[in-house]
Amino acid sequence: MKTSGGSDAAKRRAGESAAEAVTDGDVVGLGTGSTAAHAIRRLGDRVDAGLDVRGVPTSFASRELAAEEGIPCLDLPEAVGPDGPGIDLAIDGADQVATGRDGSPGPVPGGALIKGGGAAHAREKLVDAAADRFLVVADPSKELPRLDRSVPVEVLPAGRTAVAAAVREAGGEPTLRRAERKDGPVVTDNGNLVLDCAFGAIDDPAALSTTLAEVPGAVEHGLFVGLADEVHVGTESGVRVEDI
Ligand code: A5P
Repeated sequence: MKTSGGSDAAKRRAGESAAEAVTDGDVVGLGTGSTAAHAIRRLGDRVDAGLDVRGVPTSFASRELAAEEGIPCLDLPEAVGPDGPGIDLAIDGADQVATGRDGSPGPVPGGALIKGGGAAHAREKLVDAAADRFLVVADPSKELPRLDRSVPVEVLPAGRTAVAAAVREAGGEPTLRRAERKDGPVVTDNGNLVLDCAFGAIDDPAALSTTLAEVPGAVEHGLFVGLADEVHVGTESGVRVEDI
C-alpha cells in the first residue's frame, strides 16, 4: 500500500480513534490509504465483537480490506439513493491538512485538505461529501499552516494535454503520475489518469478548487475545502481530536 507522512503507530492511533466514533447501525464511508486502513481494521474488530455497521468503500483497496475484515458494504449509489440509508460518517486520511487555526491565509470552516496520494480522491470526495460527518485521520506531519503539496487532478485520458495546459494557465506545473510497477501512467479505479499539479504554497484553496473544478476534462481534483468536521491526529503518545 502507498504510504506517506509519519509513523505507522501515529497513523494507527488516529485511525482507531475515529473508528471508536462509529455507533451501532451506522453507515460508514471507508477511506483509502494507510491511516484509513487502521480505522477499517479496528471497525473489523468491532464487527467481530457484534457491531452492526455497513461500509461504503472509496476505492478497490478499501473494498478489498473491508471484505477481509468482514465488514458488509454498500455501493455509494445504493447508500445515497432515494431509498438508501445515507452515510452517517466518513473516515478518511489526507496528504496535507490546513485548519486555519493559526490565522494562516484563507482559513476555511471545515478546513482544507489535499488528498489523492493514492489516486482515490474522486470517489473519496463523493463519499466524504455525502456523509453527515467527515472525520479526517492524520499524523502530525500532515498538519501545516498552508497547503503546499502538488494537487492531484484525475483527468480523462483524452483530456490530459488540454487539462495540463489549463493547469499551466492557472499557475501550476502538471506532471503525469507514473506507475511504479508497470510501464506507463497510473490508471485510477475509474480508468482515468492523474496529473500532479504543483502550485507552490496555496493561499486561497477555495479559489483554486473552483478554478480546477471548471477545467473541461478534469474529472476531480484533490483539494477538499470546507468538507471536514473533525480531525483525529495520532501522535507517538496519544491522539488529539479537534473540530475544524
Ligand atoms: C488516497 O488517494 C488518499 O487521498 C489518501 O487518503 C491519502 O493519500 C492519505 O494516505 P495515507 O494515510 O497513506 O498517508
